[in-house]
Amino acid sequence: MKKNLITLSLLAVLLSGCCGSGTATEPAAEPENAVIDAIMARRSIRYYTDTPVEREKLQKIAECGINAPNAMNRQDWEVRIVDSQEYFDGVTQIMKESMPFMVKTDDPKFRNGFRNATAAIFIACPDDESGMFLQNVGLMSENICLAAYSLGLGTCVMGGPAMFLSTNEAARPYLDRLGFSEGYRLRVVIAVGYPDEQPEARPRDPGKIQFID
Ligand SMILES: Cc1cc2nc3c(=O)[nH]c(=O)nc-3n(C[C@H](O)[C@H](O)[C@H](O)COP(=O)(O)O)c2cc1C
Repeated sequence: MKKNLITLSLLAVLLSGCCGSGTATEPAAEPENAVIDAIMARRSIRYYTDTPVEREKLQKIAECGINAPNAMNRQDWEVRIVDSQEYFDGVTQIMKESMPFMVKTDDPKFRNGFRNATAAIFIACPDDESGMFLQNVGLMSENICLAAYSLGLGTCVMGGPAMFLSTNEAARPYLDRLGFSEGYRLRVVIAVGYPDEQPEARPRDPGKIQFID
């Protein structure tokens, strides 16, 4: 008898969950908006677990990248995906020698100078400030970050390693390995991996937004 009562109570709880708990007078709950939720919850991740990122996922998020709006759909960008730890270690070694402030070797969780990522996406565009090339790269980058977030991955857009690779002579072989076309410049590197931290949102200034009547 007692068992039957417990079963009935459980059923009641389950049914109330399935069929809506509100009464007719309560306002309907806001529908979930997966896109807005992802935009508001995404954060830059700088620590990652050892778990490698599946190549299918890297391919998918890069495809989301190239589906970003871009000026006249000219697609003036090139994308390279690296998941070789030997590549990250090699560049990190050069960073240690020539720009030690870029690497926190005293950090026990330090893995590499790519914000400890297990994979990274390198994006280049024409080395020409007159076009809309940088805007395209920015839009692609956010698409990549949001797509990655939706697949349970963390990302960090990084200007530092992009600048390092495109200017440091000793790192030249690593830039060459990316095989960008003549006249293209590496603009941004996006760290990708399974997050090993949950940082708080950095504050935003809503005063930057103004309606003009
Ligand atoms: C163009 C660009 C360059 C950035 N460069 C770096 C970088 O070199 N290293 C880094 O750790 N974060 C870098 N960031 C990440 C920003 O620090 C981060 O987006 C910002 O602090 C806001 O934090 P959130 O992404 O968690 O919202 C960069 C972001 C952008 C858009």
